[in-house]
Amino acid sequence: MMNPSMFLPPCVSRTHTLTLRLAFILSSRTFATKSPGPDPLELLKASSEKRGFCDADGIRKMDVHWTFGISTSGSSLEAPPSLRTIDFQRITPSGVDFIRKRGRGLSNLTSNKSSSILCTFGKYRTGEKVEQWVAEGNCEQVVGEDIDLFKIIPERSIVELVASRLVKEEGGLMIEDDHSLMDAVSHYLEVVQDTRNRLESGELTKDELNKCMMLVKFVPYRMERYIGGSDQAMWERWEWQKEGQTWKEPKRLLPY
Ligand SMILES: Cc1cc2nc3c(=O)[nH]c(=O)nc-3n(C[C@H](O)[C@H](O)[C@H](O)COP(=O)(O)O)c2cc1C
Repeated sequence: MMNPSMFLPPCVSRTHTLTLRLAFILSSRTFATKSPGPDPLELLKASSEKRGFCDADGIRKMDVHWTFGISTSGSSLEAPPSLRTIDFQRITPSGVDFIRKRGRGLSNLTSNKSSSILCTFGKYRTGEKVEQWVAEGNCEQVVGEDIDLFKIIPERSIVELVASRLVKEEGGLMIEDDHSLMDAVSHYLEVVQDTRNRLESGELTKDELNKCMMLVKFVPYRMERYIGGSDQAMWERWEWQKEGQTWKEPKRLLPY
């Protein structure tokens, strides 16, 4: 280890030298390059669980604000990327599960294009830390998994997904017709109320729900975690990359 006092002019006092040496030792401890862990999805889940967003199995808790942004390239080079806010539903060892309403956005996500996701937790203010996750990967439909969507998707979302589909069908439109106009608000609200009644009485079936949305898994091949606070000298940035099915040893990156 380099001795910090070797760069100091002789006039610097012994106390000052000792203080500098102590600061050097402390800082080299604080900024140790120990890896945060081999599996970024496990770390994302652990952090989310600690913040009260999900349980120990990575399943979303009721009525929490736990979201990420997901972006995929548009239909042509000139088209803007499609970027949407999405609720986390579950973090598993293989990826991030979420529901996406049926439509062009879903077809785009599941068409073998790569996607990026982004989320931040915490606040940028003195004494606190912000945690940013960025990941690149592919989306695929989750099939044959025993997950009860009625238990994890907020009731309000279920009701509005189904009601929007019903109103589109009444107007001769398809579920894939994105950005359809709401011609009569009062009629839409009636359909919402009726759908809510059917959900509460257990009449609404899984098949009906599946007509409006799909359970999708985002499978990352690169992830990055960036943590810091307004009063920190150095922000921590780590990157994980996959080789086949296995995460390689993470690498520490310069913050910028
Ligand atoms: C907090 C929040 C959470 C959302 N969660 C979802 C979600 O889990 N799935 C989804 O399809 N849309 C979700 N949305 C709505 C989407 O961002 C998007 O606006 C909507 O699905 C319409 O997409 P479209 O423009 O492709 O038709 C959410 C919006 C907000 C503000």
